[in-house]
Amino acid sequence: MKTETNSPLLYRSLADTLISLIEKDTYRVGERIPSVRQMSKQQGVSISTVLQAYLLLENQGWIEARPQSGYYVRAKVREQAPEPEISSPVKDPSQVSLHELAMMLMRDSTDPELVQLGLALPNPNYLPIEKINQALTKAAKRHAVDAHRYIVPPGLEELRVQIAKRAALAGCQLSPNDFMITSGGLEAMDLCLHAVCRPGDIVAIESPMYFGTLQTLEVHGLRVLEIPTHPRDGLNVEALSFAIQYNPVRAVIVISNFNNPLGSQMPDEKKKELVELLARHDIPLIENNVYGELYFGEKRPLVCKSFDKKGLVMLISAFSKDISPGLRIGSIAPGRYKTELEWLKFTINTSSPTLPQYAIADFIESGGYDHHLRRIRREYARNVELMSSAVIRYFPSGVRLTRPSGGFVLWVQLPENVDSLELYKKALAAKITLAPGYVFSASNQYANFIRLNAAEFNYNIERSLEKLGNIIKEMRL
Ligand SMILES: Cc1ncc(COP(=O)(O)O)c(C=O)c1O
Repeated sequence: MKTETNSPLLYRSLADTLISLIEKDTYRVGERIPSVRQMSKQQGVSISTVLQAYLLLENQGWIEARPQSGYYVRAKVREQAPEPEISSPVKDPSQVSLHELAMMLMRDSTDPELVQLGLALPNPNYLPIEKINQALTKAAKRHAVDAHRYIVPPGLEELRVQIAKRAALAGCQLSPNDFMITSGGLEAMDLCLHAVCRPGDIVAIESPMYFGTLQTLEVHGLRVLEIPTHPRDGLNVEALSFAIQYNPVRAVIVISNFNNPLGSQMPDEKKKELVELLARHDIPLIENNVYGELYFGEKRPLVCKSFDKKGLVMLISAFSKDISPGLRIGSIAPGRYKTELEWLKFTINTSSPTLPQYAIADFIESGGYDHHLRRIRREYARNVELMSSAVIRYFPSGVRLTRPSGGFVLWVQLPENVDSLELYKKALAAKITLAPGYVFSASNQYANFIRLNAAEFNYNIERSLEKLGNIIKEMRL
């Protein structure tokens, strides 16, 4: 064992050794490095020397500390790949027509032969399957008869209490009566659009936008005004303000925390600015927050709804990304549209499934949800990081990719001449599916973009990304 000298440079030399090991891939991106105690033993240096070395590496972006877990190697994505450009969609409203592409994605998403990088499905290993199944069994016993009744809008009170408590963490001071249970986020969006729009109306949206929302807009016969976004900060509020002056915008849709496909998070100041802008024009804001719990930072970001003084913001949440997509449970805080939304929900399907409402309420109340979220946030952050570094490693130089601050999707800008639909077909032949950029715009904006689902990362996926990189390199020639 080495004896420690008091040299102030000792921690630097330890940091240099670790950097060299990271550069040589001895410690790989996403991997946990030895704990402070282990490293101190291995190197024969004091704990404080190791702590200083780790702090230096953290400040330089080589490693990151994860609470109660240890230190992990970070991909230095920032220095290796630029972000996609700020989007600049067409300035006129467009009619949406994406059903054929959407059906193609849906069909391929069920093929077990394919490596699934297409739909934004959560990693099944990160769903609390056992716990939620236990909660379902318990609820079935405890509410043997009630579990088979409708729960008319606004839905199960016990669940609304839990949802109101979660919303408080995102800055909303709302009562359980301010929420209504829905069958997932998609139904919530459908109801909101039903309540405030009529066919032919114009709806302003972030561009790119999750294609499920684009399809709902298509079904409603709405015209879409695509507003530019910054890949990290989301919607450009100034551009929206300008668009509102020249178009009779009937509603605005944003995914303020972790846009799909950008992974962007609107800074809180911008959220406030947006809510105030729309309040001045009396325009409703539909805020989709289905990824809100999957943040990578220390703190739950606020939602636009927390700045809403006029009841114009309809906040949509769902448990599809973090508990179970199949249970089909979500919610809306509908603000001033409460009565209309409850009537619509009652008219369309009377009630969302009853047993899952009891089970989810119990799971959250028992503390299981919080515990589970703490784990999966770390895992998703790690997988996004790992997939980002694989994209950088295997795709041709010059690709650009997002730096999501939550969620689990990556948005990749390919060289200009690489058409994402052509790539989709070639990838399919190589047994890989992905989401071509076209489906995220009503006006064919993102021909050379793809979205990758980074919920899972393993050897097989890494090899698929390598194949994809080779296909792209060939297409670029
Ligand atoms: C932004 C966004 N909203 C809504 C949904 C669908 O939510 P749900 O399954 O709860 O209807 C998804 C699923 O990919 C999504 O990405």
